Amino acid sequence: MLNILLIGLFICGDIVQGLAPPHSGPLLSSSGYILPQLDPNPSQRAQEVAINYAGFLYGPPLIGNLSFFPAGTLGVQRVYADIEGFKQNAVFITEAIEKESGAVVQEITQVSNIPPAPNIESTNYGKAGGFKNLSSYELLYKDEWNQSNPLGIAPGYFTNYSQDLHFSMERLSVNPFSTSRLHPNDTLPFALDNVTVSKIAGATLDNLQKSGRLFLASHSYQALYQLQPGRFGAACDAYFYLHPITNDFLPLAIKTNVGSNLTYSPLDSENDWLFAKLMFNSNDFLHSQIFHLANSHAVAEIVYLAALRTLSARHPVRAFLDRIMYQSYAIRPVGNQTLFNPGGFFDQTAAVDHRAVPEFVDRFYPNIAGLFRSNYLRESLVNRGMLDCSYGPELKNLPFFEDAGPIVASLSRFVSTFVKAYYTDSLYLEGDNELQAWIAEANTQANVLDFPPAPLTNIQTLIDILTQMAYLTGVNHHLLNSNAPSYITGLLPFHPSAFFKPLPTSKGVQDITPYLADLDHAMAQVTLQLRFQRPQLPAEHGELVDMFSQGAFNNGSSLPWEVVEAAARFRSDMEGIGQKIGAKQFDENGLSQGMPFVWKVLDPRKIPYFLSV
Ligand SMILES: *[C@@H]1O[C@H](CO)[C@@H](O)[C@H](O)[C@H]1NC(C)=O
Ligand SMILES: *[C@@H]1O[C@H](CO)[C@@H](O)[C@H](O)[C@H]1NC(C)=O
Ligand SMILES: *[C@@H]1O[C@H](CO)[C@@H](O)[C@H](O)[C@H]1NC(C)=O
Ligand SMILES: *[C@@H]1O[C@H](CO)[C@@H](O)[C@H](O)[C@H]1NC(C)=O
Ligand SMILES: *[C@@H]1O[C@H](CO)[C@@H](O)[C@H](O)[C@H]1NC(C)=O
Ligand SMILES: *[C@@H]1O[C@H](CO)[C@@H](O)[C@H](O)[C@H]1NC(C)=O
Ligand SMILES: *[C@@H]1O[C@H](CO)[C@@H](O)[C@H](O)[C@H]1NC(C)=O
Ligand SMILES: *[C@@H]1O[C@H](CO)[C@@H](O)[C@H](O)[C@H]1NC(C)=O
Ligand SMILES: *[C@@H]1O[C@H](CO)[C@@H](O)[C@H](O)[C@H]1NC(C)=O
Ligand SMILES: [Fe+2]
Repeated sequence: MLNILLIGLFICGDIVQGLAPPHSGPLLSSSGYILPQLDPNPSQRAQEVAINYAGFLYGPPLIGNLSFFPAGTLGVQRVYADIEGFKQNAVFITEAIEKESGAVVQEITQVSNIPPAPNIESTNYGKAGGFKNLSSYELLYKDEWNQSNPLGIAPGYFTNYSQDLHFSMERLSVNPFSTSRLHPNDTLPFALDNVTVSKIAGATLDNLQKSGRLFLASHSYQALYQLQPGRFGAACDAYFYLHPITNDFLPLAIKTNVGSNLTYSPLDSENDWLFAKLMFNSNDFLHSQIFHLANSHAVAEIVYLAALRTLSARHPVRAFLDRIMYQSYAIRPVGNQTLFNPGGFFDQTAAVDHRAVPEFVDRFYPNIAGLFRSNYLRESLVNRGMLDCSYGPELKNLPFFEDAGPIVASLSRFVSTFVKAYYTDSLYLEGDNELQAWIAEANTQANVLDFPPAPLTNIQTLIDILTQMAYLTGVNHHLLNSNAPSYITGLLPFHPSAFFKPLPTSKGVQDITPYLADLDHAMAQVTLQLRFQRPQLPAEHGELVDMFSQGAFNNGSSLPWEVVEAAARFRSDMEGIGQKIGAKQFDENGLSQGMPFVWKVLDPRKIPYFLSV
């Protein structure tokens, strides 16, 4: 039911069977997907492309200086259709949240035996308006939200989040894009004294860096963002290191970059150090959420917009993109109107105000998040020294790559079969004027950053492009958004969206609870994160496992047989990967993939195949 709408919009009638010999030359298809040079009705096709070219235009990005957003008659029509679809798609979660919120609030107020606090300064309401201590935040999640969050929360989180390994391994799983390995000759953002570092890591900072064992996640840029009244946050830089003996990936120090610029380490008191980790997590959560906008949405959307202008709907590459880009143009306008607007959902929960969003986008999109090829899964990890590092030891575990790698390998295998079914020889690439126009358009008018150059002469390059598009819509997006915030990335109390008292200017904090959200603010954070979920999609075949079993791919007999076979294989690969991810549990050391929590976020049976929200 989901995707049949847009595909076929421009498909006119039944076309061509048997214009070329079925086994020697590019395959034709009764569905109408055919390369332009083989199309029996070239003038009709040229007319269609001309209409698309005039009807889809490049408009303002809506959120900061992201990629262009669709304008023009057809562009606006498409945007409205997507918004309509998005609204329908969101009904289930909105209703579920509404239905389930009452019970959560009631339980917390009953357990605390106090009314929900409108004002955290009031001491009558417990330390943080209903939350007496850090453990009481578990009431926000435990056995709750059965409909809104059927996946539940990460096993191990509430028992283990105060462990250093929990904090550090989140960098290699829940948000792997903010951390990189420092190069031996990089300039360090802050110094640490040798005695401190030696006590923690058994080596000096210099030794760690020279041996490729030092890592940095830097959020100091957030110091420039405007805090909202009554909200507080830091702008933390954090060092991580690979232990010289155990090779464990662990935190070394956190510098807040605000107030009195405190630097914390594991040698501080338990509360001070935990507070520092919370301050970092608050910054990193902001990073993960806005980064995903610039990294998944903005990139896939602009590549597709260039395709909408240049490829006929009969082009097989259009069929592929039409399928995976389902509803994609709803997100920016909806975000612009309800999430990032003054007083909107972002302002209701974050420490900084919504003007930070375009500032973040302007900083990250042009140089990092918006780059097409450098964000290929392997390249992005290699570029940051996380994989195949030439100047330091391999990471013992890289859960993000352990889970995403096999999915991307399957995507690439399917795409390869799909592409080669139509382009049996690179001559067909060169003779495909629509495809070449798309690549040229992406490089020029669309201004896709770091896109493969025109003309495209290598079939593998096309395979890489389409694989990356499917990775962006079906994997990368859901790593940071979708289920992830409610499963672990944004869970209180370890990942506060904001603090509600001025941050300490000296060490010695006795209790962190009073700095954290009261019940109202906590519910705002929890329910905003639940809004990114689409728990009804598995039942509607809207998940990654069904990426190539529905929509343009829904009728086997109308696609080349090898594509049908490859789609079936992809589906069974995804089922297999899903079963493996679903069955993860703790080993005898209480770890899963080297982490003290179980991370199931990339289960292909549970994540949408499209940019759902
Ligand atoms: C927006 O970003 C593009 C690159 O993506 C750059 O060429 C342009 O100058 C930027 N515009 C502004 C107003 O920052
Ligand atoms: C936190 O508060 C709850 C509710 O009052 C209590 O049951 C629990 O033992 C406390 N936990 C800690 C670690 O103090
Ligand atoms: C949610 O499901 C759990 C486990 O199945 C159950 O114990 C709990 O009572 C349910 N909660 C609600 C609010 O329905
Ligand atoms: C750092 O070292 C690499 C080679 O190891 C070199 O290519 C690069 O230019 C150096 N950068 C600086 C800033 O010295
Ligand atoms: C720390 O150790 C390095 C060698 O690893 C040395 O060069 C440096 O002078 C020491 N710094 C201090 C402040 O002692
Ligand atoms: C914190 O220290 C850095 C240098 O390490 C400095 O650039 C920055 O201005 C300081 N920030 C504050 C708020 O003092
Ligand atoms: C929404 O888009 C309009 C038009 O580009 C822009 O003026 C406005 O600042 C945007 N709002 C947000 C919250 O980004
Ligand atoms: C698949 O398409 C073919 C040819 O277009 C058609 O004859 C057949 O009925 C379709 N099958 C299904 C299951 O829709
Ligand atoms: C993490 O928590 C789980 C259960 O909550 C426990 O079984 C496991 O031993 C813990 N891991 C560590 C390393 O403490
Ligand atoms: Fe999103």
